[in-house]
Order: sequence, then C-alpha cells, then structure tokens
Amino acid sequence: MIRSVVYLVLAAVLATLIVVLAEQSTREQREFNNAVYAARMLGEVLPAGEYDQTPGLQVILLHDEELLGSIDPLPAYPVYRDGTFFAIVMSVVANDGYVGPIGLLVGISKDGHVLGVRATSHRETPGLGDKIEAQKSDWILQFQETGSAPTRTWRLTRDGGDFDHISGATITSRAVTRAVGRSLEYFAANRNQLIALPPD
Ligand SMILES: Cc1cc2nc3c(=O)[nH]c(=O)nc-3n(C[C@H](O)[C@H](O)[C@H](O)COP(=O)(O)O)c2cc1C
Repeated sequence: MIRSVVYLVLAAVLATLIVVLAEQSTREQREFNNAVYAARMLGEVLPAGEYDQTPGLQVILLHDEELLGSIDPLPAYPVYRDGTFFAIVMSVVANDGYVGPIGLLVGISKDGHVLGVRATSHRETPGLGDKIEAQKSDWILQFQETGSAPTRTWRLTRDGGDFDHISGATITSRAVTRAVGRSLEYFAANRNQLIALPPD
C-alpha cells in the first residue's frame, strides 16, 4: 500500500517535471514565433517604410474592458519614425460577432486616423462572416481607404453610419465596425499618455 502511494507520488512529480521542462524548452521558440507574427501583422496595418524597423517590438498592455472588449489587458505596439511617436497598433475585441469574439488589430496614427485594420482571430462562418479577412475580401480595407478619420460615424450605413456592410453578414460587419470605432475612442481618451511613451 505504502509502496503504491510512493510510486504514485513519484509518477506525479516526474510528470510535473516533464511538463515544466517542456514548457521552458519551448518558451523561447514560442516568444520568437509570437514576435515574428506580431511584426508581420504590424506590417499589414501600417504603411510600409514609414516607421522605424527596430529589431525588437515594443509592447505595452492596455486595459479597458468597455472600449477594448476584454477583461484582460491587451497588447499594443507603439511605433516610431526617427525616434518620435508615429502610430500605435492596438488590439481590440468585438464580443458581438455572429459566432463569437473577433480579435482585431487597428493601426492608429498620431492624429487619430485609422491606418489599417486586420482580423487576427474569429470563428465567423466561412463564406459569410469570414469575409472580414483581408485574404477573402476587400471589405476591411474600407477603414483605411476612405473612412480613416476619427470624425467618421463608426457604424454601418444601414445603422446611420459611414461604412458598408458585408452582404449576408451584417452582424459580423457591424461588430467589427463598432469595435474599430471604440479603439479610436480609447486612443482619443488616452492620446496624451500614449504619444508621450518613449521608444525603448
Ligand atoms: C448557418 C448561418 C451562418 C451565418 N453566419 C453568419 C456570420 O458569420 N455572420 C453574420 O453576420 N451573419 C451570419 N448569418 C446570417 C445572419 O443570421 C443574418 O441573417 C445576417 O447577419 C444579416 O445580414 P444581411 O442583412 O446582410 O442579410 C448566418 C446565417 C446562417 C443561417
């Protein structure tokens, strides 16, 4: 009986050890992969060649459940041109998607214009809501092309705003449009602190 208990405890300790070691040995690789992914996504929501490309990404955490849509702090990436603040790439979550939450990255210039928006995670329906992906349709490009000013009404045209909806996917497009608007509200409310952040 005692021997069985000892074996069980030993097995549990060994299993824990293996999990901890595996976690540690893959952490660096995962951090590297995340940084590469974030750098690539930054390139999608910012104009190429207009900001300083630094070897490491500067990351800050922002927390505002109401405007950013998450109870957890979300990463944001300030970027600089010749060492002065150029733009910030913010994460924002739309919790009112058709299927589930939609993760977005929004590039916002120093003067509060949208430089680009990309969906980073979602479970919306293939062929309908997934048209928010830039690879599947041009819909998400409208925010940077014609609608970038913070003074636009960040709702769908059919809700009295300034933005087209995706046909057959009004719920998804409404959720994304409003979330982009909320990220601009967050930027406007916190602009002074954000643009004063020094480069790393
Ligand atoms: C199986 C199924 C999947 C759907 N997936 C989505 C979706 O991903 N996003 C969305 O906005 N609407 C989705 N819809 C449609 C919505 O129920 C709703 O009809 C639509 O958002 C309204 O858009 P419309 O006014 O452009 O037709 C789906 C409907 C069905 C039956």
